[in-house]
Amino acid sequence: MNYKLPGDKSRALLSRGLPHMRNGLRYQAASEKSAAKGFKPPAQMIVGRAEGDYVWDLDGNRFIDLQNGWATNPLGHCHPEIIEAVHLAHKQYGFQWEHPLRIELAEQLAQLMPGKALPRFSFEVSGTEAAESAIHLALCYTRRRYIISFSSCFHGEGLGTKMVSAYNSDNNLYMEAWAGGVLKAPYPYSENIPAGMTQEQYVDYCLWYLETHITEFVVPAENIAAILIEPGLAEGGNWIPSVSFMQGIRRICDQNDWLMIADEVLTGVGRTGKMWAVEHYDVIPDILVAGKHLSGGIEACAGVAARDEILGDNPRATAGSTFAGTPGGCAAALKTLEIFERDNILQQSMALGELAAQRMSDWGSRYEIVGQVRTLGLLMGVSFRAPEGVAEDFHVARSVRDAMLRRGVWAICDNEAQVRMYPALNMAPDVLRQGLDLMEEAIDEVQRKGVTAGDYPPMPSGNVGF
Ligand SMILES: Cc1ncc(COP(=O)(O)O)c(C=O)c1O
Repeated sequence: MNYKLPGDKSRALLSRGLPHMRNGLRYQAASEKSAAKGFKPPAQMIVGRAEGDYVWDLDGNRFIDLQNGWATNPLGHCHPEIIEAVHLAHKQYGFQWEHPLRIELAEQLAQLMPGKALPRFSFEVSGTEAAESAIHLALCYTRRRYIISFSSCFHGEGLGTKMVSAYNSDNNLYMEAWAGGVLKAPYPYSENIPAGMTQEQYVDYCLWYLETHITEFVVPAENIAAILIEPGLAEGGNWIPSVSFMQGIRRICDQNDWLMIADEVLTGVGRTGKMWAVEHYDVIPDILVAGKHLSGGIEACAGVAARDEILGDNPRATAGSTFAGTPGGCAAALKTLEIFERDNILQQSMALGELAAQRMSDWGSRYEIVGQVRTLGLLMGVSFRAPEGVAEDFHVARSVRDAMLRRGVWAICDNEAQVRMYPALNMAPDVLRQGLDLMEEAIDEVQRKGVTAGDYPPMPSGNVGF
């Protein structure tokens, strides 16, 4: 398979978008400039249809989907039972705030929360709103002013979540004055750590930074409300923290009377092979943020779970926009959870994660351009490195992602030096195997050809012009 991308229909529609969509001007200018330098345009497509493990573009090309609606479809695309449940909720309630499904869902989520210790739920529409709501809740509950977040983290695109996020150094540009209550600490990456440090020493350093550096030199401990952490840092490159780090965070929070907020918008509801990623670490947060998979891939549903005393009586912590907890969103979540139980989805996702880890296990030793393969269940990332002085690491990752797409496998690479994959939790094992076979072919091609100027797509390879 070697698709010509974008196909004619996708290309025509992308051109129609250029005069109207966000960044259309920037995209066009960047395309012309890079074409003049001999760069190839990035492989792109517009989805025309989606079903199960596959999407088809407007030109009829079929792709194995490891992109998964930005990690949002736990049970594959357009799951008929979820669509039916949402349809029935629409027919019965249209849009209402006061409908029974939100209570049913809150009741079920309470049973599923880590240690059943977070019985209260506050609905939001998106992960962004839910993360902001969790921060607000922590500040109001503790009556303190500071939140600690981490390098490379991503919590959303709202004003508040942009400020706590540290996707890259441009993240907070022009918002510096608004971010006075945010302290950023180093995330325990497993690569590119300071020279001479072992992984364990670096984790110790990250914990020392939180408990000693911040409290002795930056802000007194009694002014800090919470640590906000992704237990599996997703958008910033699928970094997987160690048990000692996550347990260290819990210990530091307990010792200092800080709250631990786990942002499980992407890692939650089965992505890592357990219902919540914190369960891999035997850690119970005080507040948990959920989204993405709760939608069943059909209708938005997100929110914040917390301990009784945090969310049970806190009049300052107002929350929930008009469309938070819609009947359709709650119906999608309820049906998704029902299918999880009935079809043993967590076991399926754990087994698929093992299959993938096994399949990719020798890529690091076989391919010079592969830096590291990281998996936690089906939270999967491969990091890439460029030969010295030839290109940036992320160019290699983009090239691989491009070569994958042309072979019919859709994965994510934005600006990070990783290709990230988020297959549906019930993907057919053969389809996943085939997707990874094609990915390896793509890696082999990029390595064989060598990465030289002109060989890699200069722009992020999603349809991110828009
Ligand atoms: C960990 C995390 N938190 C929050 C968000 C924001 O969620 P949403 O895009 O639904 O607003 C994301 C989105 O990728 C995420 O990965």
